[in-house]
Amino acid sequence: MQQTGKRSWAEPYKIKMVELLKMTTKQQRQKAIREAGYNTFLLKSEDVYIDLLTDSGTSAMSDRQWAGLMQGDEAYAGSKNFYNLEKSVQKHYGYKYMIPTHQGRGAENILSKVLIKEGDIVPGNMYFTTTRLHQELAGGTFVDVIIDEAHDPQNEHLFKGNVDLDKLKNVIAEYGAQRIPYVCVAVTVNLAGGQPVSMENMKQVRELTQQHGIKVMLDMTRIAENAYFIQQREKGYSVRSIKSLVKEICSYTDGATFSGKKDALVNIGGFLALNDEEYFNEASNLVVVYEGLHTYGGLAGRDMEAMAVGIEESVQDEHMKARVGQVLYLGEMLMKQHIPIVTPIGGHGIFLDAKRFLPHVRQDQFPAQALAAELYVDAGIRSMERGIVSAGRNARTRDHYYPKLELVRLTIPRRVYTQAHMDVIAESVVNVYEQRNKIKGLEMTYEPKYLRFFQARFGRI
Ligand code: F0G
Repeated sequence: MQQTGKRSWAEPYKIKMVELLKMTTKQQRQKAIREAGYNTFLLKSEDVYIDLLTDSGTSAMSDRQWAGLMQGDEAYAGSKNFYNLEKSVQKHYGYKYMIPTHQGRGAENILSKVLIKEGDIVPGNMYFTTTRLHQELAGGTFVDVIIDEAHDPQNEHLFKGNVDLDKLKNVIAEYGAQRIPYVCVAVTVNLAGGQPVSMENMKQVRELTQQHGIKVMLDMTRIAENAYFIQQREKGYSVRSIKSLVKEICSYTDGATFSGKKDALVNIGGFLALNDEEYFNEASNLVVVYEGLHTYGGLAGRDMEAMAVGIEESVQDEHMKARVGQVLYLGEMLMKQHIPIVTPIGGHGIFLDAKRFLPHVRQDQFPAQALAAELYVDAGIRSMERGIVSAGRNARTRDHYYPKLELVRLTIPRRVYTQAHMDVIAESVVNVYEQRNKIKGLEMTYEPKYLRFFQARFGRI
């Protein structure tokens, strides 16, 4: 049927079960955030109205996935669900070998231990917290090779996740290919604001690294969202399916780590995928030490089944259009109200630019952390700091890293909230923006050694 004029679209699913939410008063929320040390990670979920802390493990599973849970084969070894997951990974991502892990960082640990030696350099398109830490714990040093545009929240580059080939060439020239076990390419780039990498860039990185015998390892945690942006924005790809784009992205790499808790619509799970048999054998051996036998890797059989089904659902065009469409809906509403956000709007959430939102708060007084706390108090909406607290300290000098991006992430879980929820979120952000001059910075009163953003505590200045 030929469509004329503009048509609305809606989610390609309907709701079968609901979870009731608790409503709280402002006084209750003020007390809750104080007790949580102004860290949204330390709030109790039951005190939250709309939970935008993360899109990780928070998606709604389909009836097919729930049916998959009932088909869990809980054998210690060789569960049939392992083989279903392996088949799904081979079919949709094209990798030869797959080792399940309890979640993404389990795979990062194994990959880092297998490939990185003391003194190695690991270039990547912006750091991710757990990924960089595992690289460092294995003796490596992360070097950022993302394009400069990624560090500018207002730059409108359509593929702000791209690797800067000149930066990568310089790193190779400076340290030598021998010291670079692999380049870590993430799609879409979480800390840049969910920004995609173009297919052209994937090909160029492949070409350049091949000349030097350097591997490419993919952090494919949100790969279907990246494929959607390629389909929508990159010349020549609008006729391609998400499915085929996802597989093509993987084809330019040698392996991948995957957190199934995002794209793959499950509450727990991940894997390490590899094409090289020797590395696979080594990784299968190591996974036994840290996760579990190589045919379950810390997961129950039912978890692997739900992930196998979720992967299939995640690469459907209709699904991705609704998923990213909801994020765009919220983002465009905020832009109309002149709220400073990272643009172009990314795949998994809206990132408020705390530097422009709270220009009167110095970065070492944690503006994004303070803003996240304030948003919670206003309407019970939980977000996450992605700025100086998340960036942590330089392992050598012990100084704070001062990232250019000081952001608050409003992350949208998949298939969970409605358009009306998006309206309520926008109203709350606008309300806080109108009172932004009253918001003060914070001081850190407790700082844990690793990944401090999860457990640090703060007090009001
Ligand atoms: N890579 C990326 C890009 C991620 O966003 C995450 C997790 C991981 C790896 C690690 O996976 O949590 O399964 O161990 N991101 C979550 C988030 C925590 O909220 O962005 P994991």
